[in-house]
Amino acid sequence: MIKLKYFAAVRAAQKSQRPVAEMPPFDIDRLRAKGLASRIAGFLFNDPRWLLALLRRFWPNLAFGNFLLVTKGVDVRDILERGDEFETPYGPEMAELARGSNFILGMQDGAAYRQMKSAVLSAFPPAEVEAAVRPIAERHSRDVMTRASPGFDAIGGLMKIVPVRICRDYFGLEIDDETEFADWSIALSALFFSDPTASPTTRQLAIVGGDRLIKVIDRSIAAIRERGGKDERPLARLVALMDQGRLSQPDIHSIMLGMIAGFVPTNVLAGGNCLDVILSRSDARQAVDAAIAAGDTGKLDRAILEAMRFKPIWVGPWRYTARDAVIGQGTRRERLVKAGTVVMPATLSAMFDPEIVQRPNEFDTSRPYRDYMVFGHGIHLCIGAEIARIQIGECVRALFSKPKLRRARGRAGKMVNVGAYPASLKVDFERSPLCRTVDQSMVTVVCPIRRAVPLDAVRDKVGALGNPAIDEVG
Ligand code: HEM
Repeated sequence: MIKLKYFAAVRAAQKSQRPVAEMPPFDIDRLRAKGLASRIAGFLFNDPRWLLALLRRFWPNLAFGNFLLVTKGVDVRDILERGDEFETPYGPEMAELARGSNFILGMQDGAAYRQMKSAVLSAFPPAEVEAAVRPIAERHSRDVMTRASPGFDAIGGLMKIVPVRICRDYFGLEIDDETEFADWSIALSALFFSDPTASPTTRQLAIVGGDRLIKVIDRSIAAIRERGGKDERPLARLVALMDQGRLSQPDIHSIMLGMIAGFVPTNVLAGGNCLDVILSRSDARQAVDAAIAAGDTGKLDRAILEAMRFKPIWVGPWRYTARDAVIGQGTRRERLVKAGTVVMPATLSAMFDPEIVQRPNEFDTSRPYRDYMVFGHGIHLCIGAEIARIQIGECVRALFSKPKLRRARGRAGKMVNVGAYPASLKVDFERSPLCRTVDQSMVTVVCPIRRAVPLDAVRDKVGALGNPAIDEVG
């Protein structure tokens, strides 16, 4: 019988946790699923909407072990609005990885939650994102795509890199190796959000990844202090709050770990999935192409949001039932959920439930915002949605600005995952004539010049070699 990790297995793993120094070398590929069974599961569940539609109709609350999958849209919303009965279960591991301080997504509503949320919002105000993050996202997306050649890996080379550069240029983190930084954050996210059965491998990777990220955070704090000057970026703002005694060092670790793990892996996942949808559905592709051709950012955002609905980051978030609770009250599916049950309110299912969403299977960029649960629902609604919208929007714009962009042929053009996270998807496009490579050689010749020779005479001699210098040089 399947038993999900909240919370007995989490406590057991924490108790027997060995120090970082004893962990195997960090290798994100250890998250890669192996074997035929996982391939078949990947094929069946790549787009589980058919299965969720069946469940909604015949078995809206599916229980096995200590797990309950809830698929009816009204029940999904209801559960996510009842945070005191259905708690977020990420807290014990978030606090462990941050060495003592919990993060908002691991907390329930209350004074501590509100205090930390207000610190996070004052350091990362969504209102400044358009002006502060758009130019960074745009510049890096354009730079990456200017250098790209056909066969380009749109996930490893773009979707995974641009969020890291925003962590560097906007958050204010000192990052050495972009891919390593992304992989550490993916390891952390995997432990928090995609490790329901407490895999020892996932834990080992997260412990090492978390340790490396804390070192990056501490190094970045030290650099802020060394520079001393005015720094109006999120990390520097958090340091100022610490200096005023409003935050502790573990609080800063917790906030930064949470904002990094909430950002890089989630955007790789959301951006990768959304790209997969745009490249698979002609309606999505047309919407994106039309928005880019018109230079209409609002339209592009709507097309991306709608693409995300078709393949969101997960089937749904995790919740832990703190005390006995009734769901679907007064309906035929009314059910008592026992304390201790791990519940997944399936937001993916809710977004395709015709009882709450009109014509759910149509790709429609003019839906009301209430139809979307890609960024969650209720008090833990994503606070990074603005950053996500802008970063993914700029990546998609730069990518689809390449003429005739399409999947690479064969397996390279299919999305490959490492664990739950997209790792590669290669694309082809037509190179512009100016970018075609030609064979060139450049030779630098250094020769001594006697002081008495006038500079112009030397210039004349060099000029006489011609440009290009195709004659034999004696
Ligand atoms: C497209 C990308 C993203 C998606 C799809 C996404 C999705 C979500 C979802 C579904 C939740 C709710 C989780 C739950 O209820 O269990 C959430 C919460 C959260 N997200 Fe995001 N997210 C994205 C990007 C980001 C970014 C870029 C950041 C930070 C820079 C971020 C930071 C957070 C935080 C801090 C919370 C918790 C808020 C709270 O507890 O009050 N997310 N996100």
